[in-house]
Amino acid sequence: MPLRSNSPPRSNRRSFLRTATIAGTAISLNAASYSRVYGANSRLRIASVGTGGKGWSDLIGVAASPVVQVVGLCDIDDSAEHLGRAAEKYPEAKRYADWRQLLDQSGDIDGVLVSTPDFMHAPISLAAMQLGKHIFCQKPLAHTVYEVRQMQEAAAKYQLVTQMCNQIQSHTAYRTAVDWVHTGKIGKVKEVHSWQGGSPSWPRNIPRPPGSDPVPPSVRWDLWQGVAAERPYKTGLYHPFNWRGWQAYGTGQLGDFGCHIMDPVFKALRLTSPTRLTAEAPPLMPETWTDRATVRYEFPGTDMTAGSTLKLTWYDAVGARPPREKLGQIPADYELPGAGSVLVGEKGSLVIPHVAMPKLFPEDLYTAAELPTVDSVDHYTQWADACVGNGETTSHFDYAGPLTETVLLGTIGIRFPMQELQWDAKSLEITNHADAQKWITKKYRKGWEPAWV
Ligand SMILES: NC(=O)c1ccc[n+]([C@@H]2O[C@H](COP(=O)([O-])OP(=O)(O)OC[C@H]3O[C@@H](n4cnc5c(N)ncnc54)[C@H](O)[C@@H]3O)[C@@H](O)[C@H]2O)c1
Repeated sequence: MPLRSNSPPRSNRRSFLRTATIAGTAISLNAASYSRVYGANSRLRIASVGTGGKGWSDLIGVAASPVVQVVGLCDIDDSAEHLGRAAEKYPEAKRYADWRQLLDQSGDIDGVLVSTPDFMHAPISLAAMQLGKHIFCQKPLAHTVYEVRQMQEAAAKYQLVTQMCNQIQSHTAYRTAVDWVHTGKIGKVKEVHSWQGGSPSWPRNIPRPPGSDPVPPSVRWDLWQGVAAERPYKTGLYHPFNWRGWQAYGTGQLGDFGCHIMDPVFKALRLTSPTRLTAEAPPLMPETWTDRATVRYEFPGTDMTAGSTLKLTWYDAVGARPPREKLGQIPADYELPGAGSVLVGEKGSLVIPHVAMPKLFPEDLYTAAELPTVDSVDHYTQWADACVGNGETTSHFDYAGPLTETVLLGTIGIRFPMQELQWDAKSLEITNHADAQKWITKKYRKGWEPAWV
């Protein structure tokens, strides 16, 4: 396993690969692909993998750009709410059930949207990147820390335009919060508390039920399982949506929300990978994620932090909130949002609700005129525009990588409650815990091993 630096050079320039290899098969691109040079009137030909669920709004969001032409649609479920709806909207696009087939025939595709369940993000994206495709990928970027680093390395190696879909980053609420920190409204930041107090509907803390159910005729269950070990189909347990609660497919509540809620903290404080973390959580069931966890991270300090290190604590549980006494100058009668972050600064405290405009305390520190807001930008078309050479993405994989790495390290911490894990980001090593280190990567189904960079 190659271990590389955390910060490969990034670039938005497009490079073309003459050949790439997916699982040992050489795939050639047609001549049109190499000679394509983007100009002001260029079209970006995209394919979407995972067209139901969030994938539907990803597709609509990216296709809203006038530069985009939808040429490929792939979903393992051809029922109306999955492939069907997208196929009806884009009747000219070729349709696929198997993303490997789509990539095999991808000479006319410039960029790929990956909106599948978490465990398939990296296998699909890595294969596509090795064919020179720009990538718009759902959060969290990947399912393991090693996959995350591979995604970063592939984007840098093939010089691709990338964007993770933590789209709230581009909303006025998060952009304004980041601006207020950057312009010193709360001074240097001393500590951060982030939480998700919602009640997920997906399964947690349960054993795998016995038996199997008939696979619906619209679903290609073998293709859905992809790189994961095979198991029997069960109605309502995995596909769609409920895969989140299963360790083999999802990343639990921290993985589901961490890349959103911690994002403005990362942007505001310019955080990179943590150096240590300790989780508090009940013992995990063998296959599902927990229903509550607290993860205490320590990061190297930055120009935005008060000290040489920064402590960030994540809390998730139904009704979870950080301890009031830790939140600096926030009045006791202020009702904290159900999810969000508090940044405790030297001059004041900033509440960043998920998702609403930020709130600064003490309230009389600034006049409204001194607290300008920053407009939203479009996270989806930003990627399409950047692919044709206009502007840059803000959640490119060099940014989204360390953010997702932090989130996924937290999910490893949850496996080893009350045990400090020391992290060396450069060598991709949990240096003090051999058992935890094993979770940096995972086993893949035979014949489905990702094409590593
Ligand atoms: N950014 C956000 O606000 C946000 C919101 C919801 C979900 N998400 C993310 O979006 C992704 C999808 O989540 P969801 O809730 O839509 O899940 P889902 O299960 O509801 O939908 C996934 C879609 O992908 C299809 N699919 C599954 N495996 C596939 C494969 N191998 N190839 C092609 N198609 C496949 C499914 O049939 C379905 O249409 C996840 O990574 C999730 O974390 C992000």
